[in-house]
Amino acid sequence: MKITIVGTGYVGLVTGACLAELGNDVFCLDLDQRKIDLLNDGGIPIHEPGLGDVVARNRAAGRMTFSTDVAASVAHGDIQFIAVGTPPDEDGSADLQYVLAAARNIGRHMTGFKVIVDKSTVPVGTADKVSAAVQGELSQRASEALFSVVSNPEFLKEGAAVEDFMRPDRIVIGCDATPAGEQARQLMKKLYAPFNRHHERTFWMDVRSAEFTKYAANAMLATRISFMNELANLADHVGVDIEAVRQGIGSDPRIGYSFLYAGCGYGGSCFPKDVQALERTAREYGQDLLILRAVEAVNNHQKHVLGTKIVRRFGEDLSGRRFAIWGLAFKPNTDDMREASSRVLINELLQRGASVAVFDPVAMPEARRALALDFAGDAAAVSRIHFCDSPNDALKDADALAIVTEWKAFRSPDFGLLKTLLKAPVIFDGRNLFEPEAMATAGFEYHGIGRSI
Ligand code: UGA
Repeated sequence: MKITIVGTGYVGLVTGACLAELGNDVFCLDLDQRKIDLLNDGGIPIHEPGLGDVVARNRAAGRMTFSTDVAASVAHGDIQFIAVGTPPDEDGSADLQYVLAAARNIGRHMTGFKVIVDKSTVPVGTADKVSAAVQGELSQRASEALFSVVSNPEFLKEGAAVEDFMRPDRIVIGCDATPAGEQARQLMKKLYAPFNRHHERTFWMDVRSAEFTKYAANAMLATRISFMNELANLADHVGVDIEAVRQGIGSDPRIGYSFLYAGCGYGGSCFPKDVQALERTAREYGQDLLILRAVEAVNNHQKHVLGTKIVRRFGEDLSGRRFAIWGLAFKPNTDDMREASSRVLINELLQRGASVAVFDPVAMPEARRALALDFAGDAAAVSRIHFCDSPNDALKDADALAIVTEWKAFRSPDFGLLKTLLKAPVIFDGRNLFEPEAMATAGFEYHGIGRSI
């Protein structure tokens, strides 16, 4: 099938590459000429395991085109995926300007029937706005071309996006009940048929429910994390091991084990943004989502948990102290620094006069960019950030190690070496990588999250 993907960001590029892998002819549009040049030169603008190979294979097979040509992109795809960014507005709502601009472009150039798919995470009611934007352009040029707007939210996790796309646990598609909507549904059914061979994975619903499902999923996952983080903080005080509790409750199939890991807070481009956007939608309708407000507040608090533990151990004034930080990206297998807990910790330590020696297996360039922004104009603070070439490099002469991201490479360090490199064997583990008892036996002062048993 002929597919157009508008936006070669994270969602767009993964969607485009995976749909090409299924044999479709995919046209990827982006207005950023540099990104298109990079892709045409064989580069990949993001770090995502396996994505480079899929893109290279499909480009070589002639199934992927990258271009800035809007008219050509609209002419190409019977299905037009809108996968552009929806950054949060100042008030927390999703900024739809790029989505609506993409819709207007489609309306401006389309001639025959088009299925227009909202792939970006967009608030309930966006499909109506997209429809109005397309219709506005069609009316201006007195065109009677038909179209239907479909909601098909993505559930990809960064770091596992290709795998998630190729082996989805569900595909959510919202179509409207008009004849054009039915035509759209048939095309979407054909597109996703390869995933439904063994059993039906598609959930068909109305457009608004599909839009809402995406927010509900992320809000639920964020809620589980904040719930466990809140309990972990209590566990610290009452001598309880939150990891034992996780297993104890997770064994109940109604609860399940996953997304119940206490830590130093969730980050990334999705949970923080989507929780806020849902709260914002609720406010627009005069509703107050009490649980989600608490989820957000607990998470903001949790990003300070490592800083608080460090201050409790070393005192308010950290000047002259040096802390090693392992892991900067918001989670492993990505270089994404958006809303990363490491930024909050680094800020806190620098404000208190400490210096930090940081290492991340992949996110060092992104971290340099993000931290330069965080400390713009504060050269003194920036001079106390030491970007290191290896985990061991970061440890040298540090008063303690703080672990912020659970990269595999950090899971089985040489504890003997760690002891000789650190000034004192003190570890603050924001992701509960190690067993407190084993750490004590190995001679470490170990501070996990909710594990002070
Ligand atoms: C999330 C969802 O998991 C995807 O299903 C969704 O498609 C995506 O958002 C999106 O909306 O695009 P992602 O943000 O890539 O995916 O990352 P997650 O693996 O969900 O992790 C989010 C954050 O939660 C990370 O900071 C992670 O460290 C934290 N986390 C996760 C915990 O603190 N505890 C857990 O038990 C699980």
